[in-house]
Amino acid sequence: MIFSKKILAWYNENKRELPWRSTKDPYKIWLSEIMLQQTRVAQGLPYYKKFVTEFPSVYDLAEAREEKVLKLWQGLGYYSRARNMHTTAKTIVEEFNGKFPASYKELIKLKGVGDYTASAIASISFNEPEPVVDGNVYRVLARYFGVDLPINSSEGIKHFKSLAREVMNTENIRDYNQGIMEFGAIQCAPKKPYCLHCPINDSCVALKENRVNGLPVKLKKTKVKKRYFNYLIVLDCNNHTILEQRQGKGIWQNLYQFPLLETDKVMELESLEGKVRSFLKPNSIIDILLYNDKPIVHKLSHQHLHTKFWIVQIANELKGGLPWEEVSNFPVPVLIADVIKTYKI
Ligand code: ADE
Repeated sequence: MIFSKKILAWYNENKRELPWRSTKDPYKIWLSEIMLQQTRVAQGLPYYKKFVTEFPSVYDLAEAREEKVLKLWQGLGYYSRARNMHTTAKTIVEEFNGKFPASYKELIKLKGVGDYTASAIASISFNEPEPVVDGNVYRVLARYFGVDLPINSSEGIKHFKSLAREVMNTENIRDYNQGIMEFGAIQCAPKKPYCLHCPINDSCVALKENRVNGLPVKLKKTKVKKRYFNYLIVLDCNNHTILEQRQGKGIWQNLYQFPLLETDKVMELESLEGKVRSFLKPNSIIDILLYNDKPIVHKLSHQHLHTKFWIVQIANELKGGLPWEEVSNFPVPVLIADVIKTYKI
């Protein structure tokens, strides 16, 4: 049996029942595929359910306030995915009459829709024979065909896309594409794959040449940058606080946060106090207390954020302060949400 038929047969036997597998609605396929990027199915599933309940159609998402979208996304990370999705929902409503374009060529023009997502929607919703290549597919193809081109080099990306096209099943692209991804997630797992009980182990190059653990090849990323964050949890005489919206491009764009002082090394109270006082002028500071004894290290893909939270007690009334009870209504990075949850005023 050829490769694609074996993948299809395996998928038929082993696929998980997931809500987006019982629909062809491009809105729902798009939602699920955006959510599942850089996210495992088990982690993405509750978010998908919440989104579909809250926004059953692209019209509902287009009409929503960005804050609500970000709040529902809170904890999934890579927040530009949520912002782009919201923008694209509006485009679909305003320029496409609420109907998703039905081809790869048109889909890829939408904001936040790259090669992977366009291929996934085109194949799963519209049956267009376009191969998907995600992390799972790279792994399966690299191992099965023994390809050692780096999957994050331009040569590798091109090669794997054309190999994927060569070996795909065009008659049932919907199941084949989902099948090869599922096969990568479950059977041909990154660590300890089940080679002994694998339906294609008789013709897997990596297995034959004992290279399973060395494939796929990925070029080393640039060095992780360390950053030092000091968040100021300001509390006035009425237990009102300050929450600001992050501006500009970059991590967590448009999410909310406590006022932030970024420094070039870990700060102790003595060195930070002057900065805090001038930052919060003309308020009168009674006390500054460190909330977490050890910096919390929040790891993102390219940076590690060494974070301290400082409780800053103010004698006067804050101008435009926000009642503490309302803080948890705002979309914030998980790093901050965890502190809001545990801090008792
Ligand atoms: N990973 C991302 N999307 C998927 C899908 N539709 N099926 C299996 N794995 C996936």
